[in-house]
Amino acid sequence: MTERNEWAEFFNGHAPVYMDNSFTKNTVQEVDFVLQELSLPKHSHILDTGCGTGRHAIELAKRGYRVTGVDISSGMLAEAEKAAREAEVKITWVHADAARFSSTYLFDAGICLCEGAFGLLGKDDDPFEHDINILRNIGSVLKPGARLISTTLNGCRMIRQFSQEDVIKGQFNPVTMVETSEMEYNTPEGQKSVLLRERGYVPTELVMLFRLAGLEVEHIGGGTAGNWGRRPLDLDEMEVMVIARKAANAA
Ligand SMILES: C[S@@+](CC[C@H](N)C(=O)[O-])C[C@H]1O[C@@H](n2cnc3c(N)ncnc32)[C@H](O)[C@@H]1O
Repeated sequence: MTERNEWAEFFNGHAPVYMDNSFTKNTVQEVDFVLQELSLPKHSHILDTGCGTGRHAIELAKRGYRVTGVDISSGMLAEAEKAAREAEVKITWVHADAARFSSTYLFDAGICLCEGAFGLLGKDDDPFEHDINILRNIGSVLKPGARLISTTLNGCRMIRQFSQEDVIKGQFNPVTMVETSEMEYNTPEGQKSVLLRERGYVPTELVMLFRLAGLEVEHIGGGTAGNWGRRPLDLDEMEVMVIARKAANAA
């Protein structure tokens, strides 16, 4: 597979230091929450979309679950493989674009956490197609009745945070809810920068999008890293959480 977008480029460079980010420090509690919500027997098979360095996948595997992790960045997957080896757990890693991922295998549950692919747009991605494609792809590989837990950028915060000036200078587009910013990152060859596009969602839109993908929302609320739980969305927080379920009678 060719690594076709700027996020892959960014995360390839960022991968060696990704686990230094403060938002990665709550993995154990996050997995406690995920397992409580999924309520699955041990050995169930969980799909982790946009798995990154595999922090959730590895913690789930340590607790006796089978996990497949999908990511567009070979650099992130290389870190994930290394960490899984160190933790002595076996995980299937798939190098793929979640917007194009398909499988005939059906999973018992899915996770797509901390903007794991969802909302991270490449330069040429259509903001109205990219994420519905990801959701449809995930939905298509879940067993009927299986749950998906996702956290993504909170569009309410974007609307409250960006100014009219940001709109005029093209940093925030209120039509597409896309923020465009230059991100700098270090590589062994020196500092690089890349123009990144991130899309935020208001909860109403998420409910509709998940429904269109055949996933009925059971809970939607606050989901910022470090503060997970079933609670209402704080309008100014970073991330929103969706817990959804594929219909039990879905084909
Ligand atoms: C912020 S990281 C989150 C990683 C992990 N879920 C976590 O919670 O630490 C976002 C991940 O999504 C991956 N990603 C971005 N776009 C993707 C796509 N279209 N398909 C698959 N993975 C993608 C990136 O490579 C990166 O590893």
